[in-house]
Amino acid sequence: MAVAMKFMDEELARMKEEGLYGNIRTLEGPQGAWVRIGGKEYLNLCSNNYLGLANDPRVRQRTKETIDRYGVGPGAVRTIAGTMDIHLELERKLAKFKGAEAALVVQSGFCGNLAVMPALTGEGDLIFSDSLNHASIIDACRLSRAGSVRYEHSDMEDLRAKLRENASSPGRKLIITDGVFSMDGDIAKLPEIVAVAQEFGAITAVDDAHGEGVLGRGGRGIVDHFHLHGRVDVEIGTMSKAFGAVGGIVAGSAVLIDYLRQKARPNLFSSALTVPDIAACAAAVEIMEESDDLVKKLWRNGDYLKAELKRFGFDTGGSETPITPVIIGEAQAAKDFSAKLFENGVFATAIVFPTVPKGTARVRAMVSAAHSRQDLDFGAAAFAKVGKEMNLISD
Ligand SMILES: Cc1ncc(COP(=O)(O)O)c(C=O)c1O
Repeated sequence: MAVAMKFMDEELARMKEEGLYGNIRTLEGPQGAWVRIGGKEYLNLCSNNYLGLANDPRVRQRTKETIDRYGVGPGAVRTIAGTMDIHLELERKLAKFKGAEAALVVQSGFCGNLAVMPALTGEGDLIFSDSLNHASIIDACRLSRAGSVRYEHSDMEDLRAKLRENASSPGRKLIITDGVFSMDGDIAKLPEIVAVAQEFGAITAVDDAHGEGVLGRGGRGIVDHFHLHGRVDVEIGTMSKAFGAVGGIVAGSAVLIDYLRQKARPNLFSSALTVPDIAACAAAVEIMEESDDLVKKLWRNGDYLKAELKRFGFDTGGSETPITPVIIGEAQAAKDFSAKLFENGVFATAIVFPTVPKGTARVRAMVSAAHSRQDLDFGAAAFAKVGKEMNLISD
């Protein structure tokens, strides 16, 4: 290795010493309530497959049929030759589902943020960003070259104060927030953000990655949850979580989407979403439109596991959604907790810095509609056993 590359060895050794090195496990089969790792089945409490659609037979069938008609690859970026009629059909379905005028699909939720912020803001503009926003939002803000102003997490007084301080700045102002905060499971105060934005003439954008398929009527997302249709300028989202596949969404006015088709760099410079992804996402939207049974089951499961973990004495933070963090503190302790859960048949990854602030390392339990009550009891019992062994909870 070139001497100039040696810094990587040192950094990896430091990460291992501080318990920040991630041990990535390999799944040997599909996503589901249980997953196969190293030839054994483990209860899966760490995927974002909220509705269990990642391996749904209806989704698989639709994907196979679409591959037979369209092949697999889009062949190009959308603006050159990569737009297929199935891309447009999916966008129409998504816009209707979310109650927006129009939608654009991109390659991932991460790309959704990269599509929006640099297209709507630039040098001389200001982006007001919640301090717990997802990394893709942070990177998108940096790429935009706009000034970034962090406001304290969900603190509307701080947001208002920061906008007031910068009121005379001549550029555009944009407020961006996660809809559901991915590591804590709390919900953004979107109605208040919209009101503050109106007061200061700012654009509003919400990244609804963990709200789609979870919040609102039949999983229509945070805008629907708060009845804010037409009042949030940009909804960003992902089809990698509740939709069970992969792909990013941007929804909003017809003009916004027309503008982004021409300006958003992931749309202009990266090949389109693949055929199987489009087919799977289209099938997922149809399933969600047909019935809200899966969304209801997800919430029942989330409420049940959270109540059980609280009953055992765990700190589940301020979660208001099925995302259930079990806050442990130090990174190494969270990793030990996760390793012991694994020994007890439960796959629940430790989440440590830089994904969460130092000292707030956690094991995040993600339930899905695919889990049965017995599965959740099995998981809760393993948490209790390990919690007692590590003296995190009492007998
Ligand atoms: C809030 C938020 N935005 C964006 C993303 C990225 O989504 P994707 O995995 O589709 O790129 C995530 C995924 O973890 C997320 O939690």
